[in-house]
Amino acid sequence: MEKVLVIGASGQIGSELTMSLRNVYGNENVFATDIKQPPQDVLESGPFQILDAMNDKELIHYVIRHKISQVYHLAAVLSGNAEKIPLQAWEINMKSLLIILDLAKETSLKRLFWPSSIAVFGHSTPKNNTPQLTVTEPNTVYGISKLAGERWCEYYFNKYKVDVRSIRYPGLISYKTEAGGGTTDYAVEIYYEAIKNKNYECFLKEDATLPMMFMPDAIEATIKLMECESSKIKIRSSYNLASISFSPAEIATEIKRHIRDFKITYKPDFRQQIAESWPQSIDDSAAQADWGWKYKYGLSEMTKIMLEEIRKKFRN
Ligand code: SER
Repeated sequence: MEKVLVIGASGQIGSELTMSLRNVYGNENVFATDIKQPPQDVLESGPFQILDAMNDKELIHYVIRHKISQVYHLAAVLSGNAEKIPLQAWEINMKSLLIILDLAKETSLKRLFWPSSIAVFGHSTPKNNTPQLTVTEPNTVYGISKLAGERWCEYYFNKYKVDVRSIRYPGLISYKTEAGGGTTDYAVEIYYEAIKNKNYECFLKEDATLPMMFMPDAIEATIKLMECESSKIKIRSSYNLASISFSPAEIATEIKRHIRDFKITYKPDFRQQIAESWPQSIDDSAAQADWGWKYKYGLSEMTKIMLEEIRKKFRN
């Protein structure tokens, strides 16, 4: 039986991934850790421990004690926040990855997942249908750390046969746990503000189109990649992954179909420059070919679910 560890289980991806993994592997076999308290369901459905991903000794003890066979390492400082604390963000994002890669090499860990991002691309990358293999000259701390991380993942696979797998996530949209400090997070905030105040002041320009994805698709992709037979995984840096692309104006139009008097205004801040350096749409044909990836949710289905679920949250 697999014993799975999720590092960063209280975060936007981790909180949902932990619950999905518990459905697959059984509650008691999915161990959740983070430096902050997780949502109630993660806490109550299975093992959780406060554990700092930077604490290599504690982490290795934990992995050995619980006979962990798979790790999902999700702890990171996102793009907007990283710009405010560049060296600290670099230290956190890189050191925690190197700790876990080395742990995988030294222990009997079977598989490791680590998330990369569309942030590995930069101004010199083709903006539309961005290929898997292309120019990568990121100019954010977050993007630089993700690109370096990809190189380290491939290195550990080639040199030490560490079975590490990775996805370049687009902006992820979810209602369960709010993200913190990302450039794409406007597309989560906008739903909350639409319900609370019927208006939203957007920190990106109206035409800032970015690749996005609804969380259930991202979770499905992640588990699918991790369950795939090792020989099919041809890319050991990180896979491009795509579903929907939209601009703030387009998501606002979609919200107006449900909340007629919803209003959006624009006050771009430093995150607009970050958005301008990222692609608008992604070519994920390698993920489709290698492990059969296909997305399900479009902008209108996602909007309907987001609004319904956030309304429910407020009612409770
Ligand atoms: N959603 C992330 C961010 O905006 C990108 O990976 O930072």
